[in-house]
Amino acid sequence: MSESTATSEVRTVRFTVNGREVAPRVRPLARLLDVLREELGLTGTKEGCGEGECGACSVLLDGELVNSCLVPVAQVAGTKVRTIEGLAKDGGLHPVQRAFVEHGGAQCGICTPGMVMAAVALLAQHPQPSEEEIRTGLAGNLCRCTGYMKIFDAVAAAAGSAGSEAEP
Ligand code: FES
Ligand code: FES
Repeated sequence: MSESTATSEVRTVRFTVNGREVAPRVRPLARLLDVLREELGLTGTKEGCGEGECGACSVLLDGELVNSCLVPVAQVAGTKVRTIEGLAKDGGLHPVQRAFVEHGGAQCGICTPGMVMAAVALLAQHPQPSEEEIRTGLAGNLCRCTGYMKIFDAVAAAAGSAGSEAEP
């Protein structure tokens, strides 16, 4: 079998998304972003640049923030993926989501799922982040609408109540 055939053949990739086991039949080099949106119906994760520059497609992979547009789905076999759909619990928003709503951290909303996931990852590592740590933690996520201050305010407001809710 040629290498190109091996990488383009459809196969089953098993992993966990938001606590649910999934086993989509996909090409190994398909982008995790596309598999989430098109195979699994999780359209909360957005595509911006498609090149790893904007963070709109951010998800947690075993607790680490990744750009899902850069991750071939074969790499997530056996891992735990968490998307924006996995944050709300018992019908209630995650504290970071609530803070974005209350502080006007979302306008057009394209960057918002990625921003929220980046904030969840940041607060898991730094439950009480300094302003500098918030800016650094969100540096990989671009927003065209808010001017960032409302987003930084939202993350600061969520600090303390949200950190323990991120997966390790
Ligand atoms: S769409 Fe993935 S980083 Fe921009
Ligand atoms: S709210 Fe529009 S890009 Fe951030």
